[in-house]
Amino acid sequence: GRHWRGLIEEYRDRLPVSAETPVITLGEGGTPLVFAPTVSELTGCEVHLKVEGMNPTGSFKDRGMTMAISKAAEAGAKAVICGSTGNTSASAAAYAVRAGMMCAVLIPDGKIAMGKLSQALAHGAKILQVAGNFDDCLTMVRELGENYPVAVVNSINPDRLAGQKTAAFEIVDELGDAPDVHVLPVGNAGNISAYWMGYSEYARDRIATRRPRMFGFQAAGAAPFVSGGPVSHPQTIATAIRIGNPASWDLAIAAREESGGLIEAVTDRQILSAYRLLSSQEGVFVEPASAAGVAGLLKLAQEGRLERGQRITVTVTGNGLKDADWAINGAPQPPKVACDVVSAAGVLGLA
Ligand code: F0G
Repeated sequence: GRHWRGLIEEYRDRLPVSAETPVITLGEGGTPLVFAPTVSELTGCEVHLKVEGMNPTGSFKDRGMTMAISKAAEAGAKAVICGSTGNTSASAAAYAVRAGMMCAVLIPDGKIAMGKLSQALAHGAKILQVAGNFDDCLTMVRELGENYPVAVVNSINPDRLAGQKTAAFEIVDELGDAPDVHVLPVGNAGNISAYWMGYSEYARDRIATRRPRMFGFQAAGAAPFVSGGPVSHPQTIATAIRIGNPASWDLAIAAREESGGLIEAVTDRQILSAYRLLSSQEGVFVEPASAAGVAGLLKLAQEGRLERGQRITVTVTGNGLKDADWAINGAPQPPKVACDVVSAAGVLGLA
C-alpha cells in the first residue's frame, strides 16, 4: 500500500501551501480512529476515539505545527515562539529542529507536565518559566511577535488551525460521512474551531452530507465558555487546558451555535474517572486533559441528555506518557519477587 506522507502532502489542495512552500514534516496525521466498546456500551451510541497521541510528538498540536513551521520557513523566519501549557511547546521545539530555527517557549511556572518539558528540553528550545499562567504567557508572546523578529506559532496563527482541520477530513474519509456528534476538550479553543472548519469545508464540497454537532468540554475550574467570560485564576489538574481567556473565543462560539452543539464543564474528578476508564477499559492511555471529552460524554449520558444510537467521534488529544504521574501516583507498588518461576506464578495467581 501507499504510505502516509504527512498531512500537508495528503491534503495539499485544501491547505494554504504552494509549490514554493518548504514542507517541514515529521509524518504527522493519519492517526487511528479506534472503536470504543466500553464508552459505546455506557452511552448507547457508536463511539470512536480519534487517538491524537499517536502523532510524532504525542499530541494533535503536530497537525498545526507542520503548517505553521512550514509557512514560517517559507516567509524566511529564523525563530519561532509560543506560549504553552506543554504540548504546543513540545511540538514547536521538534518542528523547529527540522526547519533549523530557534524555538522560544514561554511556560507557566511549575504548571506543565514533566513529559512535555522533557520534549522541549530534548529538542533544544529556549525555555522561559513565566511568573504567571498560560494566558499571561500568550499576552507576552503576542507582544514579542509584534515587536521582534520572531514568528508566533500559537493557534492565533491561522496556519495552525488550517493544519488542525485535517483531523475532521480524516474522520469523514474513514467513516464515509460526518458523525452525528463530535466531542473534544476545550482550552484555548483552537481545536474545536479547526474541526468545525474542516467539517464545514467537507460539507460545502459535498464530501460529507452533513456536519456534526460540536460538543466541547472544559475543566470546571477553567471554564470561561460556561461562565460566559474570562476566568482570571483558572485551576484544574488537567494542566493542558488550564486556560482562562481562550484566544479563539468567537470561532468556538460560532462552532457551538452553528452546529447546535454545546460547551460545558466537567469536574477534575470526572476527568480522572474518564482517564482511568480509557486506560483500564479501552486500552487507550491519554493525558488527563484528553479525557475531558469522554468525561463530558459520559456525564450527558448519565443525565439522560444523550440520544442513543448516534455515531459519535471523540478526540483524545494527547498521549498518556506526557503526564505519567497520574497513572503512577496512588497506584500500588508492583510486588517484588525472587527470580523464580514458581513464586512468580504464585504471586500472579496462575498456580
Ligand atoms: N488537550 C490537550 C492535550 C492540549 O494540550 C490542549 C491545549 C487541549 C486539549 C485544548 O486544545 O487549546 O485548542 O482548545 N494545549 C495548548 C498547549 C494550550 O499549549 O499545549 P485547544
